[in-house]
Amino acid sequence: MRFLRSSSCCSPLAAFFFFFLVAVIGSTSSNLQQATKYNAMFSFGDSVAETGNICVVSSSSGNSTELEVLTCTHPPYGTTYFGRPSCRWSDGRVVVDFIAQSLGLPLLPPSKSKGKDFRRGANMAITGATAMNFSFYQSLGIGDPVWNHGSLYMQIQWFTELIPSLCGTKQNCKEFLAKSLFLFGGFGGNDYNIQLLELGLTPEQTMKNTPIIVNATVNGIERLIALGAVHIVVPSILPTGCLPLFLALFVAGSSGESDFDQYGCLKSYNRLTEHHNSMLREQVQILQRKYKSTRIMYADYYSQVYKMVQQPQKFGFSNPFEACCGAGGGKYNFDVAARCGMPGATTACRDPSARLSWDGVHPTEAANKMIADAWLNGPYCNPPILS
Ligand SMILES: *[C@@H]1O[C@H](CO)[C@@H](O)[C@H](O)[C@H]1NC(C)=O
Ligand SMILES: *[C@@H]1O[C@H](CO)[C@@H](O)[C@H](O)[C@H]1NC(C)=O
Ligand SMILES: *[C@@H]1O[C@H](CO)[C@@H](O)[C@H](O)[C@H]1NC(C)=O
Repeated sequence: MRFLRSSSCCSPLAAFFFFFLVAVIGSTSSNLQQATKYNAMFSFGDSVAETGNICVVSSSSGNSTELEVLTCTHPPYGTTYFGRPSCRWSDGRVVVDFIAQSLGLPLLPPSKSKGKDFRRGANMAITGATAMNFSFYQSLGIGDPVWNHGSLYMQIQWFTELIPSLCGTKQNCKEFLAKSLFLFGGFGGNDYNIQLLELGLTPEQTMKNTPIIVNATVNGIERLIALGAVHIVVPSILPTGCLPLFLALFVAGSSGESDFDQYGCLKSYNRLTEHHNSMLREQVQILQRKYKSTRIMYADYYSQVYKMVQQPQKFGFSNPFEACCGAGGGKYNFDVAARCGMPGATTACRDPSARLSWDGVHPTEAANKMIADAWLNGPYCNPPILS
């Protein structure tokens, strides 16, 4: 679809999905003792886990327009927590922030920032990240560099380059990395977005690439383990079919009653997500058996967010399909030409804490907090980080 290409850098469309890997030390002691067991936390992913890399990269590009077109650099992004745009795709904190705070760690600096101390953590996540290398999409005819800021493979490369500055000697690093928590995720969502939005494939058609997308994720987990990671959280992907973005685009096209499930989500998109997630979960189980001295945790983003859609009032949310920040009104309040932060969409809804969707693609800080809690303490992470 053209709007994506023409929107240049970093639309929320480029953003998307969120998987995380969170890894933690297993023990029976209290949460506080648990928390203090972590020296550091390292995160990988896409816009959902973004905490600043895309802005560092854009501002050092020598092209001032690059930063300007990043909608997350405009109000009302950041309005709830930071009081200003913080290069996060949220009104406040994202899941990785809440987990860091719960573990007594500082908010993770973006790994691309200069002169920062990364010894308590770094966030490699960057907007637009894919599980597959960009070369794979280039071979399919994709040219938009928005998808080429840092694939999963690149992010692990960045992390590998950081390691010597974190822990020095080999022996120190072994101990240090074994006491770090790894959040590995946000991979896969953009791989599908490219195929759906740019290549115009149907959800069914994209499923033929699921094995290689999941495989890229699995290979990434194994690379982390080879580097010394012991505690790794692997999240599933969100229910694409419930996102205002896809709903608004789909409804603008053609649709019939039978395309939607009883809650109002798009069935075929959620089937794709479920297909991906079940394959991922299966592979995670295989890794859990293969690497007995590691603790690999599967975080079920999908089920929790789908539950928020099914029973929004239980979570304190009103219309789960209405973007808090957007334009166009109606059920979805999502307009591709006036996305959050662009002219025409410069104010947030009255109460962001009563909303699931912040900008039509990414969750609000309120939802992110609940997600982080459910990964730390259960029930949506198996095993929970703090178990
Ligand atoms: C600067 O960035 C903008 C937005 O990404 C892009 O449209 C434009 O072509 C770039 N200009 C140059 C000279 O590269
Ligand atoms: C998965 O990755 C492994 C290791 O890189 C490779 O040997 C295998 O062929 C891949 N499988 C698929 C389905 O891509
Ligand atoms: C990405 O590129 C690297 C380096 O060329 C390669 O080793 C790796 O297997 C590629 N990953 C995928 C998923 O194709």
